[in-house]
Amino acid sequence: SDAFTYDPGFTSTASCESKITFIDGDQGVLLHRGYPIDQLASQSSFLETCYLLLHGELPTAAEYETFENTITRHTMLHAQFDRFFDGFRRDAHPMAVMTGAVGALSAFYHDSLDIHDAQQREISAHRLIAKMPTIAARAFKYSVGQPFVHPKNNLSYAENFLRMCFAVPAEDYVVDPALVRAMDRIFILHADHEQNASTSTVRLAGSSGANPFACIAAGIACLWGPSHGGANEEALNMLREIGTPEKIPEFIAGVKDRRYKLMGFGHRVYKNYDPRAKVMQTSAYEVLAATGRENDPLFQVAKELEAVALKDEFFIERKLFPNVDFYSGITLSAMGFPTTMFTVLFALARTVGWIAQWKEMIEDPGQKIGRPRQLYTGATQRDFVPLSQRG
Ligand code: CMC
Repeated sequence: SDAFTYDPGFTSTASCESKITFIDGDQGVLLHRGYPIDQLASQSSFLETCYLLLHGELPTAAEYETFENTITRHTMLHAQFDRFFDGFRRDAHPMAVMTGAVGALSAFYHDSLDIHDAQQREISAHRLIAKMPTIAARAFKYSVGQPFVHPKNNLSYAENFLRMCFAVPAEDYVVDPALVRAMDRIFILHADHEQNASTSTVRLAGSSGANPFACIAAGIACLWGPSHGGANEEALNMLREIGTPEKIPEFIAGVKDRRYKLMGFGHRVYKNYDPRAKVMQTSAYEVLAATGRENDPLFQVAKELEAVALKDEFFIERKLFPNVDFYSGITLSAMGFPTTMFTVLFALARTVGWIAQWKEMIEDPGQKIGRPRQLYTGATQRDFVPLSQRG
């Protein structure tokens, strides 16, 4: 009989070759196309990072200008698409709306579905990066019952998104540049993370030749789970439940009894501090300062909880450190987003990583349909018993 390597959860199997992102989990290193994440977060912009992920090199000034113009040109959604949202219940989770709406892009943009045409692949990538903020903002507006705000293309990517989320039409909307910068940095931190569950889902879906919009919708569905992108929502809910630093010991005891997990902690690959978490912690300080919430009790709980966990044998033994989601919830909440939007923001930012990985796979001459094998543990062959003869 065939012998297969049994590797549930893919802890030791490389599913592809990739030139996009490098992670050294023991050292806590994350590089995109060779550039350290902290340098990108402090010196680049999200759109420039998008270009880097897609094309492999940082753009020249002229290349950047062309890219920015192209993305800006694609931010609009067809008016018919707006009506598509009306089919959802008004209290639908915005992630449910995202999965449906992004999947539906393939019904609206037929002219870029040919995956064998390099130019069409490029257009799809641009459309996805450009339209995600518009779709995400609509998912938000729909969930709070406010009218949609159309993109304003003289604004930066992050500012335009914040405006589409928080402006009430006919009112002037001015956003604090500190929040725009924080939003842009949060997008950079989530842009790609090599072969995580949602990216692997996108690649697996894409390996059958499915169109890019369908593949990204599959990635969004996977991201929604609480062990993955849904963790930011869970992490903030957890901090709210703990409420005050005095409750931390009791909470930690519950983690050790395995009644629940410490959300925002632990990672399959990082066995050291997640480099994104460090940047996110700094962002949290900045956003809380910009919004006058320096004394936010949840931030105190988070800092104390982190300090307690990092000194505790249970976490030390298992090499559990804060991941990107530990401080992102506090930051996003201070920016005015409800918890239900947290994973949506993650999906918005990760879209570039998904599409860059999808493109790399399609352009790889060695690419085959993803088809894992299994170890069968069910019944051996037996004869069918008609219903009338079954006891
Ligand atoms: N709290 C308490 N115990 C934990 C945690 C945690 N957050 N994470 C792992 N452990 C324990 C786990 O119970 C196991 O203990 P034991 O060996 O005694 O059975 C040990 O640590 C190893 O964990 P694992 O479950 O085998 O590790 P994994 O690589 O399968 O899981 C993970 C990785 C991220 C799913 C997990 O750490 C987790 O559930 N963390 C909480 C959710 C979270 O924050 N997810 C966001 C990840 S970063 C953003 C993203 O990529 O989406």
